[in-house]
Amino acid sequence: MNWKHFWDRQALASKGAKQVGRIMAGKELEPQLMLAIAKHISEQLQLTETDNLLDVCCGNGYLSQMLLPYCQSIVGVDFSEKLIAQANKIGSNKMIFYAADAKEFGLNQSFDKVVLYFSFQYFEDYESGKKVLANLLKHAAPGALILIGDICDKRKIWRYYNSPKKWWNWLKQSIKQKNDMGKFWHPRELLQMCAALGVKGEVLEQAVWQPYAHYRFDFLIVK
Ligand SMILES: C[S@@+](CC[C@H](N)C(=O)[O-])C[C@H]1O[C@@H](n2cnc3c(N)ncnc32)[C@H](O)[C@@H]1O
Repeated sequence: MNWKHFWDRQALASKGAKQVGRIMAGKELEPQLMLAIAKHISEQLQLTETDNLLDVCCGNGYLSQMLLPYCQSIVGVDFSEKLIAQANKIGSNKMIFYAADAKEFGLNQSFDKVVLYFSFQYFEDYESGKKVLANLLKHAAPGALILIGDICDKRKIWRYYNSPKKWWNWLKQSIKQKNDMGKFWHPRELLQMCAALGVKGEVLEQAVWQPYAHYRFDFLIVK
């Protein structure tokens, strides 16, 4: 799947939460729920008002703007220029956005906290995932916390593909190699990556109130 093409098209086809796929049963997630997600992320990352946060795969900045009250500043990175153009509309001296690929961007700055949320599935093999993680670590200050959140969980794949219609779509998409969900990761793969990169990672199961808890998990890394 050409994900850049997919997200550029999504940027033109919709706006707001929909533009970054924040939908459930065809409906946009309620802003209140998104705010609760942002608060939860701020707790997982132990965000403080002096923290500089790096938000990788930030899309149109919809979630970034909800995280800003919990920290001092945010730098967002996303490879869709179209989504970054949207994000720049809400940019300020406290929230700056750049168009670049998560695997290879290079900023001359290190961050207290790093988040990559609802996006790890778009790195569709172990080596790409490891490359992203290495790049996040490169931008993290010593002792920084890195949250990779809302990862599609291989252990729970059939809770997502949970009807004959979805199984059929999954089969058709897999044959055409055009799966529109990306990769379901096993937590073991992330632990293996951490071991290879010399850092500690922890699997966090999601709470039931989280909208995609039935098939996603979070992962926290300490540099
Ligand atoms: C589902 S949206 C998530 C947006 C936001 N993080 C959130 O939680 O609402 C996925 C985002 O990942 C971005 N993305 C996918 N692959 C990427 C890559 N290789 N480099 C940078 N951004 C990427 C897409 O452009 C899209 O904006």
